[in-house]
Amino acid sequence: MAELTFRNVVKQYSPTTPRAVDNVNLEVHDGEFTALLGPSGCGKSTSLRMIAGLESVTSGEIIIGGKVINNVHPKDRGVGLAFENYALYPPLKIRDNLAFNLRAHGVAEPEVQSRVTEISKYLHISELLDLKPAALSSGQKQRVNIARALIRRPAVLLLDEPLSHLDAALRVQMRTEIKRLHIEQRFTTVIVTHDQLEAMALADRIAVLNDGKLQQFDTPLEVFNHPANEFVAGFLGEPPMNIFSVERDAQDRWHLPGTAFALPMSDHVRTLSGKRDKVKLGVRPWGIEVARNATPGSVSGTVSVVEDLGDETRVGVRFGEVLVMASVPLTKQYKSGSLVQLSFSDEDLNLFDIQTGDRLTA
Ligand SMILES: Nc1ncnc2c1ncn2[C@@H]1O[C@H](COP(=O)(O)OP(=O)(O)OP(=O)(O)O)[C@@H](O)[C@H]1O
Ligand SMILES: [Mg+2]
Repeated sequence: MAELTFRNVVKQYSPTTPRAVDNVNLEVHDGEFTALLGPSGCGKSTSLRMIAGLESVTSGEIIIGGKVINNVHPKDRGVGLAFENYALYPPLKIRDNLAFNLRAHGVAEPEVQSRVTEISKYLHISELLDLKPAALSSGQKQRVNIARALIRRPAVLLLDEPLSHLDAALRVQMRTEIKRLHIEQRFTTVIVTHDQLEAMALADRIAVLNDGKLQQFDTPLEVFNHPANEFVAGFLGEPPMNIFSVERDAQDRWHLPGTAFALPMSDHVRTLSGKRDKVKLGVRPWGIEVARNATPGSVSGTVSVVEDLGDETRVGVRFGEVLVMASVPLTKQYKSGSLVQLSFSDEDLNLFDIQTGDRLTA
């Protein structure tokens, strides 16, 4: 096993296109499970492919276990890959698909057999060993893919959207399997996903990418609760964080222009705000308290939509163009048209710089 480091890593596919990976620095600890998370085209697969050696590095260094591997042959990097569409060899039985790379590396046949047996038990694919790939469901193929990556006992395990073709139930089941595998084996693992729940559920730390740039690299809870900027705040969470621009009014409140939304500043918010006369406010639906009666600092509004979801109710309150969504317990009954009071605690309120989008901190 080994730690994995990105030092100022850049990937530019051609001189006329923007950088696919733009000066990324990252340190994945030995045995850590990291998720690369971000929207389509943000450079996740490119990053993984550079680690694997399937793509060259334009500049910067990738280091595994203390050794720069930019120019090391892919098969000598000690990485195991399970990619979304990493094809199994159709004419070979699953057994031989698994054994293929070991044999190619000259591993002795008794050792090959014992590893095939061991890994198959581990991933519950023993009964598939004498079948050919065409006979497998997509979930079974993805298991075999992961087994094939693990059988070489890689220093670093790389997974690119390994669960993307599965239906929702199987996805969650396989997610649990991967987590168990990691807890037991502690491979340094990097998973690429654009599914924030998958990243949150699996990873020790999440690296959020946008336009090839690293936005934040931290634990799931830190990334969720203390997003580094507006992009990260908006990318994680379903429903997304409410984020809208406000201006300081004559009574020193944060006011949404043209609406009745005016939030008096607590000392904390005033400190964060500094001398700014515009900021963006960000608050998750779970961070808004909805009540019928006014309390100091509450903002009144009229309910415009109600979504009863079974385990919670979502209440939307419209202020001009902005629909502020709040999540309330099922026991609280609100109807569209009813007047409510919204309260925001300091703890749940985020402020973002209007220009840079960076989260304001004390
Ligand atoms: N082989 C290539 N040649 C040229 N440009 C490429 C190549 N592969 C990727 N790109 C470009 O690099 C950028 C990042 O692509 P990448 O595949 O890393 O994104 P991704 O984050 O994995 O996206 P997705 O979630 O859609 O898989 C994109 O703009 C893409 O068009
Ligand atoms: Mg990709």
